Amino acid sequence: MANCHGNHEHGNCKTTGLCPIVTFPEVVNIDEIRDEIPEVKTFYLSFTNKDVEREFRIKSGQFIMCTVFGAGEFAVSLPPSPENDRFHISVRAVGKVTNALHALKPGDKLGVRGPFGNGFPFEDIKGKNIIYVAGGIGLIPLRSSIVHALQHREDFGRIILLYGARSSQDLMYQPDIREWQQNAGFETFITIDRPEEGWTGEVGYVNQLIEKAKVPVDNSVAFVCGPPVMFNSVIGEFLKRGMSEDAIISTLERLMKCGIGKCQHCAVGRTLVCTDGPVYTYRQIKTLGEQI
Ligand SMILES: Cc1cc2nc3c(=O)[nH]c(=O)nc-3n(C[C@H](O)[C@H](O)[C@H](O)COP(=O)(O)OP(=O)(O)OC[C@H]3O[C@@H](n4cnc5c(N)ncnc54)[C@H](O)[C@@H]3O)c2cc1C
Ligand code: FES
Repeated sequence: MANCHGNHEHGNCKTTGLCPIVTFPEVVNIDEIRDEIPEVKTFYLSFTNKDVEREFRIKSGQFIMCTVFGAGEFAVSLPPSPENDRFHISVRAVGKVTNALHALKPGDKLGVRGPFGNGFPFEDIKGKNIIYVAGGIGLIPLRSSIVHALQHREDFGRIILLYGARSSQDLMYQPDIREWQQNAGFETFITIDRPEEGWTGEVGYVNQLIEKAKVPVDNSVAFVCGPPVMFNSVIGEFLKRGMSEDAIISTLERLMKCGIGKCQHCAVGRTLVCTDGPVYTYRQIKTLGEQI
């Protein structure tokens, strides 16, 4: 694959001549667009170059750079693998490029570079309980990790999801949630912030679910993604219960430019979010002196 920069840990490029990392934008087709929640759409994509599609491998927690031609590029999280799931991105329209993306139609083209970043540390957490805590669109980066953990269910203890959104309309991936709720090996606890007519589930902030779910802190890891106010109160609860700072894992979002450690745009402390992250432990985040 001509895009290989020949310097990858996996070494596949040397042995096979093919590289699963795309360093110049590859063209993808938008096959389908679904409204997810207000302001968030999911775009189902396929590579126009099928050689690239076959070689494209994604580790849960990594990200790609997505080009909207004529508008610019932005970082976006990925599902586990195009083999296991259709290749898709879920994007909230917040600014110039993401609004330009939302204006596109099926059949339009995008550019994709990646995957980049370190990904979630699945090798280190075998045998542990996993507690996912998500607020709002914080479920986007965690979803790939949930799918991975459920595909390797025997490797883990309890798997618990605590998910909160402003209203039922703001709950991401509702078909997945319904499926997860039927899965005996997965404990799901969902809450919305305000009471709502017809809602029979929990009402209140997501940190209140920690007590309700009787979350185990020993031999557990927590993956936490959501708005700063949620993050801080959830971390506070976990630390109060004795969870180690190393066992709390999150992803940092910073403005990305190159995605491959060259431009320094994403520097946080002495690390680069695009290559050292975006996945960090809470202990690392604290030492970086950064606010989530
Ligand atoms: C690793 C990683 C993974 C990510 N994954 C996802 C994902 O899966 N889904 C997703 O939706 N997002 C994701 N993001 C965030 C996404 O990259 C950003 O939302 C995106 O870069 C926004 O680009 P934009 O050009 O549309 O917004 P910009 O135009 O850059 O605007 C970004 C923000 O700045 C504000 N802003 C813009 N211009 C001004 C101004 N002049 N004055 C004041 N404020 C202004 C906007 O209101 C907006 O809040 C991820 C980010 C990272 C780093
Ligand atoms: S985005 Fe360029 S160094 Fe990280």
